[in-house]
Amino acid sequence: MIFGVAREIKPQEGRVSLLPAQVETLIQAGHTVLVESAAGKFSGAKDSAYEAVGAKIVPTAAELYGSAETIVKVKEILPPEYELLEQRHIIFTNLHTALNRDLTDKLLEVGCTGLSAEEMHQFGTPNSPLAGEVGALEGLRLCLAPHGGTGRHFLPQYGSTATKAVVIGLGGAGLGAVRVLTALGCSVVGLDDHAGARYKADIQFADRNFSTGNIEGLDSLLDDLDLLVNCVRWDKTRTDHLLSRADLAKTKETLVIADVSCDEAGAIETSRPTSWEHPTYHAEGRLHFVVDNIPGAVPVAASAGYANALLPFLLELGEKGVLPACRDNAWLARGLTCVAGELILRETGLLQQRDYRELAAFLAG
Ligand SMILES: NC(=O)c1ccc[n+]([C@@H]2O[C@H](COP(=O)([O-])OP(=O)(O)OC[C@H]3O[C@@H](n4cnc5c(N)ncnc54)[C@H](O)[C@@H]3O)[C@@H](O)[C@H]2O)c1
Repeated sequence: MIFGVAREIKPQEGRVSLLPAQVETLIQAGHTVLVESAAGKFSGAKDSAYEAVGAKIVPTAAELYGSAETIVKVKEILPPEYELLEQRHIIFTNLHTALNRDLTDKLLEVGCTGLSAEEMHQFGTPNSPLAGEVGALEGLRLCLAPHGGTGRHFLPQYGSTATKAVVIGLGGAGLGAVRVLTALGCSVVGLDDHAGARYKADIQFADRNFSTGNIEGLDSLLDDLDLLVNCVRWDKTRTDHLLSRADLAKTKETLVIADVSCDEAGAIETSRPTSWEHPTYHAEGRLHFVVDNIPGAVPVAASAGYANALLPFLLELGEKGVLPACRDNAWLARGLTCVAGELILRETGLLQQRDYRELAAFLAG
């Protein structure tokens, strides 16, 4: 199979889908790998490092898409990339089609095969811990007085209280946020509606200034909160919120909200996704940080984690072809989004109220 490693075009996005180590493994398995020039620049991987393991560097995205069968990326396909798509392509990236009708329309119109990497991670996406860790750190930085934050120190010193933080959602991202905040000395409460998630966090952070509770406990913590980090995996069909616009009146004006989940009016009613170029805004007077590609700030680690997670799927895809590989590997199949103009990803079908075929029926057909 001819794989193409595309350069990301989203502003401030330094990640690359495959590093030279994974490219070498694909080449050793008999595949060809094309890499768009400078794709690995911000992840510490020069063109020469890819060439050293046998990849061919191509100068432009047009040449990459023109020659490769499977395009491997990190971020969704953006409008400037639409014209590069062809029916014969397999697009393997974090497509996030559910809330992106434009992209869904384009993928279906072109008739290419779409594989959503974000659906495939059996042990949670490798980006989540990084997003939680970096998002919490950024939230904490915004708590410093010059940024309008509370001015509490993150360490409990001189008899004063350390920064008080609540992390909602204790999955991969939430545990990452707790790890960073408690390591620095903050007083942290983790809330999750899943007893197993609370138990895991309790054990992991037993020696820190940390406790857990049900999500219903959020209301009672609002009045003396410095930092709220949202890491809940939000059910996008829900129309209610865990923190409503009205709830913000119960908080201090200096509250910082670091919304890692970054769902538009999701768990946090006042949230809307932002970028590293313009990461924050005020709503109801409260500072919000809602960057939707937080791991893009640590591309060296993020690329390594993502590339290692993708490699087994790419090897299987290259060996068997897309549909046999999906029939053999349920985790790969979870990402099957569209094939030849037909929508397969149920969440996208439901949210966009458009026709889709159930995965099992499609693979059996
Ligand atoms: N901003 C970014 O760059 C970035 C990067 C990676 C992940 N994310 C997002 O972060 C979010 C979390 O990802 P994850 O991998 O940690 O998810 P996860 O599935 O591992 O964990 C989510 C947690 O939320 C909890 N939860 C779900 N509904 C809840 C509710 N109503 N109340 C309380 N708890 C609830 C679950 O029990 C679970 O423990 C996702 O939305 C993901 O898309 C964002």
